[in-house]
Amino acid sequence: MKLWGGRFTKETNQLVHSFNESLSFDSRLFRQDIRGSIAHVTMLAKQGILTNTERDLILEGLNSILADMESGALQPDLQYEDIHSFIEANLIERVGDVGKKLHTGRSRNDQVALDMKLYVRDEIPVLNTGIMNLMDTLETIMKENVHTYMPGFTHLQKAQPTTLAHHFGAYYEMFRRDLSRLADLHERMNECPLGAGALAGTTYPLDREYTAELLDFNCATSNSMDSVSDRDYLIDLLSALSIIMMHLSRFSEEIILWNSNEYQFVELDDSYSTGSSIMPQKKNPDIAELVRGKTGRVYGHLMALLTTMKGLPLAYNKDMQEDKEGVFDALDTVIDCLTLFTGMVKTMKFRKDVMEKSAAKGFTNATDAADYLVNHGVPFRDAHGIIGQLVLTCLDKGISLDELPLEDYKAISPVFEEDIYDAISMKTCVEKRMTLGAPGEYITRYQD
Ligand code: ARG
Repeated sequence: MKLWGGRFTKETNQLVHSFNESLSFDSRLFRQDIRGSIAHVTMLAKQGILTNTERDLILEGLNSILADMESGALQPDLQYEDIHSFIEANLIERVGDVGKKLHTGRSRNDQVALDMKLYVRDEIPVLNTGIMNLMDTLETIMKENVHTYMPGFTHLQKAQPTTLAHHFGAYYEMFRRDLSRLADLHERMNECPLGAGALAGTTYPLDREYTAELLDFNCATSNSMDSVSDRDYLIDLLSALSIIMMHLSRFSEEIILWNSNEYQFVELDDSYSTGSSIMPQKKNPDIAELVRGKTGRVYGHLMALLTTMKGLPLAYNKDMQEDKEGVFDALDTVIDCLTLFTGMVKTMKFRKDVMEKSAAKGFTNATDAADYLVNHGVPFRDAHGIIGQLVLTCLDKGISLDELPLEDYKAISPVFEEDIYDAISMKTCVEKRMTLGAPGEYITRYQD
């Protein structure tokens, strides 16, 4: 059962075995472990360290293990310590003594470093697809809503009018940066650690660049101690995942607000909502709340790994085995959240009438009223003061700036004429904002 029984005279205590084992969670690395072994054996034969016959026997065994694990015919046996020992032992069972040559010039330290890198590399496209599906969904909604007015907020107070397309466009940009963060970390981590051995390389004439090429890495890593003890790329990944969750969480928070009785900007679909066991009227935004809640869990995994790594001397230490559960859970969580969130947004209904009414209230056109004065030669600071006084008058009368009679405007400044109403209309406020990245520019951006 053990790869290292030779120097031991006693059996491992059962509790020690259970505490030490990682097979219960690293068995999901079986594809990557076998892919790495296939490359390693291919390289050993090219270098004359194994014969071609030995190589072929081992490859046949590894491929049959892969097929059996894929089909479920072969299940991990928890008496083994980790996925590496399990596969090697099974190989020896299948092909006999030649299987014992698989681990020539290799350590589990460079093996596990490779497996995790391959796993992360395999998951990045899954994350990319999840993000891109969400971006496509947002873009479809944006294209249909370049003229859907809504209030834009600062301090959660109505600030200036904008559009649904513009508001969603902000999230679109966040997810675009998330994609580029994943691409960056992929590029940085894409160096092959195999051949680093336990920490100091090996005396066998390994061709590390060849193995790296077989496994589609840009190159082999440059320092064997760093190769087996580097977990930076997992911290990069957890950090990128945390940022994705932060974006999803902010978005969830807005959807929860918008779906509330007070806002009523959106209505979540029944298929993406849940009810209350006591209050019959309730329809709750549980999916958005769970996405917001799971953000804490992903941040936690980032903090945990940073803390695990901070005091470790070179090179490999068993502490590093603690990298796996957090990384796996963070990946699973983010992939699920992206899928659920996209489905929720896709099925959500927008109450455009409510949004537009809300945009017209709360003096969101006050800046534009001040700009009107500026366009007629009034210095901006004076214009700000004049409109401030008009807002007070309106508050007093319980009306909006568009409803204020021209006499009231003229009473405070003779500059005002009938065209003030056009200048502060919702259409002008939104659609004349044509600067790059502003709501008006989204109209031309999506004009086909
Ligand atoms: N299960 C171990 C891990 O995840 C594999 C490497 C073990 N290496 C060792 N020298 N004990 O880190």
